[in-house]
Amino acid sequence: MTSANVSVSRTHEEKITTDIISREIRLVSRPKGMPTADNFALVETELEPLEDGQVLVRNLYMSVDPYMRGRMNDGKSYVPSFELGKPLEGGAVGEVIQSRTQEFKAGDAVTSNFGWREYFMASPKELHLVSHEIQPLSVYLGVLGMTGMTAWAGLNLVEVKASDIIFISGAAGAVGSVAGQLAKLRGCQVIGSAGSMEKVKFLREECGFDIAFDYKVSPILEQLNLDVPDGIDVYFDNVGGEMLEAALSVLRVHGRIVACGGISSYNQEKPQPGPSNLFNMTTKRLTMKGLLVRDWLDRQGEFEQEVGGYFRAGKLKNKETVVVGIDQAVGAFIGLFEGKNLGKMVVKLD
Ligand SMILES: NC(=O)c1ccc[n+]([C@@H]2O[C@H](COP(=O)([O-])OP(=O)(O)OC[C@H]3O[C@@H](n4cnc5c(N)ncnc54)[C@H](OP(=O)(O)O)[C@@H]3O)[C@@H](O)[C@H]2O)c1
Repeated sequence: MTSANVSVSRTHEEKITTDIISREIRLVSRPKGMPTADNFALVETELEPLEDGQVLVRNLYMSVDPYMRGRMNDGKSYVPSFELGKPLEGGAVGEVIQSRTQEFKAGDAVTSNFGWREYFMASPKELHLVSHEIQPLSVYLGVLGMTGMTAWAGLNLVEVKASDIIFISGAAGAVGSVAGQLAKLRGCQVIGSAGSMEKVKFLREECGFDIAFDYKVSPILEQLNLDVPDGIDVYFDNVGGEMLEAALSVLRVHGRIVACGGISSYNQEKPQPGPSNLFNMTTKRLTMKGLLVRDWLDRQGEFEQEVGGYFRAGKLKNKETVVVGIDQAVGAFIGLFEGKNLGKMVVKLD
């Protein structure tokens, strides 16, 4: 794991009223290009006493996700920027320590958007009860959480069906590895690209991909032409850039693209030109659909039933890379852009 230890400081806030010390990661400057440890600070705070209507939660796992990089920039985007000097936010799963509400009791397991900190207080509407029966609870950040739901929603968005040949980039990551497994369960032929031979082996041997290749060893288009000479029906894009360009070349007439992410550009300081072969959209009458998982929240029950069912039946793997300690969270986050994770990158809070 990247060594990206952040400096620790104590706040000098006036209201020091309990003896619970919580450490949290704050954004202290906006990254230019690849984030560095200097953009963050690990700060200790003392929690105030719990008030009526509040729940005190200790986080057990927190998520680091590529989209958080966009929130570190200034300016208007589809998600609000993180504020400087404030703790970062993100998915987390934790245990209720104390509750002054009817809805939750000590011992309950809950998910929230209060990641990047060890403890927090919240109102019931900011928490979602999950079952302790599924272990480790980090699965609610992976297959049964936001990234699993993104994979599921992406396949539904372009109506992936058994006869499709689907190519997934970033295939060994959180979204990609679930998208590929779900596509296999639908009966598709599945091709994936990833950044190392270890990842390629994982895709072939553990996730059931028909074909997987390391996009770093030779030109992507060359590898696709070799592996799928008759082309693909669906491209699930997690990467953008050169990968999207190669996919546009090998998509068949009436092919579909799930525009899920573009991680190859998240740290670029200047916008890059689009694919040089975009005219394929016209000549092949392609469809490209943008995906935001939050648009699918009204179908969460359906997702939990279908994907949870596969998971409980042992048909779906929740692969994860676990980094231990909040002081390692920044390194885990940066590691996403260096391909350090196999499956979902999570931080276990000790
Ligand atoms: N639209 C939505 O609602 C939504 C929701 C969640 C996630 N997403 C997007 O989905 C994508 C995957 O997210 P995730 O959470 O599953 O992350 P992830 O794939 O688990 O982790 C990121 C992976 O991206 C690859 N990568 C990093 N830099 C790259 C580059 N320059 N070129 C090619 N690959 C690169 C690395 O794998 P390699 O070793 O293979 O390079 C790395 O392990 C991201 O683009 C994310 O923003 C979208």
